[in-house]
Amino acid sequence: MFPLVFGKVNTNFKGGIIMGHNLAQKILSSHLVSGDLAGGNEIALRIDQTLTQDATGTMAYLQFEAMNLSRVQTECSVSYIDHNTLQTGFENADDHAFLQSTAARFGAYFSRPGNGICHQVHLERFAKPGKTLLGSDSHTPTAGGMGMLAMGAGGLDVAVAMGGGAFYLPSPKVLRVWLTGKLSEWVSAKDIILEVLRLLSVKGGVGKIIEYAGPGVKTLTVPERSTITNMGAELGASASIFPSDEQTLRFLEAQGRGEDYIPLSADEDATYDEELKIDLSLLVPLIAQPHSPDNVVPVSNHSATAVQQVAIGSCTNSSYQDLMRVREILKGKQVHPNVSLVISPGSRQVLSMLSSNGALTDLLDSGARLLESTCGPCIGMGQSPVSKGVSVRTFNRNFLGRSGTQDASVFLASPEVAAASALTGFITDPRTLGLSSEVEFPERFRLDDSMIIPPGDPDTIIRRGPNIQPLPIAPALDNSLDLPVILKLGNNITTDDIMPAGSKILPLRSNIPAISEYTFHKIDPQFAEKAKAHKQSMIIAGHNYGQGSSREHAALAPMYLGLRIVLAQSFARIHRANLINFGILPLTFVDENDLDRLNAGMILHLSGLHQAVKTSEPFAITLDNDSKPVWVKHDLTERQAKILLAGGLLNSTKAAV
Ligand code: F3S
Repeated sequence: MFPLVFGKVNTNFKGGIIMGHNLAQKILSSHLVSGDLAGGNEIALRIDQTLTQDATGTMAYLQFEAMNLSRVQTECSVSYIDHNTLQTGFENADDHAFLQSTAARFGAYFSRPGNGICHQVHLERFAKPGKTLLGSDSHTPTAGGMGMLAMGAGGLDVAVAMGGGAFYLPSPKVLRVWLTGKLSEWVSAKDIILEVLRLLSVKGGVGKIIEYAGPGVKTLTVPERSTITNMGAELGASASIFPSDEQTLRFLEAQGRGEDYIPLSADEDATYDEELKIDLSLLVPLIAQPHSPDNVVPVSNHSATAVQQVAIGSCTNSSYQDLMRVREILKGKQVHPNVSLVISPGSRQVLSMLSSNGALTDLLDSGARLLESTCGPCIGMGQSPVSKGVSVRTFNRNFLGRSGTQDASVFLASPEVAAASALTGFITDPRTLGLSSEVEFPERFRLDDSMIIPPGDPDTIIRRGPNIQPLPIAPALDNSLDLPVILKLGNNITTDDIMPAGSKILPLRSNIPAISEYTFHKIDPQFAEKAKAHKQSMIIAGHNYGQGSSREHAALAPMYLGLRIVLAQSFARIHRANLINFGILPLTFVDENDLDRLNAGMILHLSGLHQAVKTSEPFAITLDNDSKPVWVKHDLTERQAKILLAGGLLNSTKAAV
């Protein structure tokens, strides 16, 4: 049933002859600032474009401001408002006003609330083949559908890139997905990426760029390619990329940006680290079952599953083509009475085109409810499913509880499957409806950039409502420290354990003093109080400390409360990088059994720290009332050691400019 050939291909050095380059290598090498692409070590890249959204953007712009730079140094930086658009209190409105004024002052474009989801709008109006894009949102790789090398990162990394600094990452492997054939009717781009997730799992892309190639590529439009690159994030990939070809030119010309086109593809004799082959003509409509995007089966397996909610939208599947296919299914029919169908168009461009060609009327007549062109239900802003309900969504994530309903079952599928399910009230393979459809790719999209405000006057006054508080800066690392252990933790502490989310806490993202009160709140409600009483402190933990999201507040808030060191048996990779960025020293045990000798309430003595950070040798921490020290180590690169000694990335970047 599933088309698959899996193989390994050698890298591009054979018998001393340099072989051709793949597309990822071409963009990486043309943007390489330092490092060696072949080595697997850390490389530094020049960044051409950045994007931020409001949930991460306030912090990124506070960080940019703290670097004392006057204007962004990239070719183009865009500040989007698409996540927290509900205004039940003043906090989100304060954030929006701050972001509009900082964009004007520092030379970024500002996309107003209602203009669309950052990744959809960026694809339409800003993305360019061959360029690099760094975004403070994990689905930034969406723009890879345009032949861009687009990556997600923490807000501070994006702020540094806006200031002209390089972006550091481990040199990635490149996995080629070779596409042949053509999709059958009612099978879509979402089914391609669900198939890749089924084959590779949510860990399959870690440390890799996924490059799509082969004759099947030319059958896919740019928005379809971007559905695929968008969910490369669910594979854990650093980026996903398609070539730039006639489809790219067609999309750019339809967006009135034909001059941005350049052709780009891998060399004929390019080599790859790994390869996967998919015959598009053999694919069937697929669905990801609760609670993981890689838990994929054919839609037909669920034909007896009743549905209470269908949500169509998100940065994965809300393009004009997506919603026109939905219209083809719903036109002249009625949504099942037991189903709530909500539709969020990906951008104002999409919405206005549906409006002007009459498709919107067909959607509304069918009983669909129209939501704003924002992230909406995907970020939990409304539309939580009924208790124990089944929700079919065109989104990219279905982790337990993300919808806002802990016991709901969320399935991920294409817009075609979602629309068919909304009609029948059961999870439905659209091919069973007996419809036929041919959605035309528009020759010209409706162009209206009036909700994108261009870079403004450098003298613009920054608007700071009470929700915008100054950014705390870490002190430089002291050479000697006597630190109380204020918390001892077990294994697998998540960033959510460290800094919880939720509708009460999320609006405080630009107010570190206020949000830091919630640090470790679920584990120790007195944590913030204790930390403040000690001024400087440390915590100890078991394995995999900081797993979960890239949430930088999980490092920033503890730093604000005076945390200087986390001593753990092991760390999750992204959180460890965030700790370093915010000046907190991550240490591990030489003998991990030593964790048993330590407890909350002890004072640990560290000396000669400056030298210890610069070398890779283990060093001793002494304890009161115990003559045997605890030996600890770190695996800092030279660059990371400098960051820590300066008190974090912000301080070290300021020192460099
Ligand atoms: Fe927004 Fe959901 Fe995408 S929160 S950026 S639509 S993953």
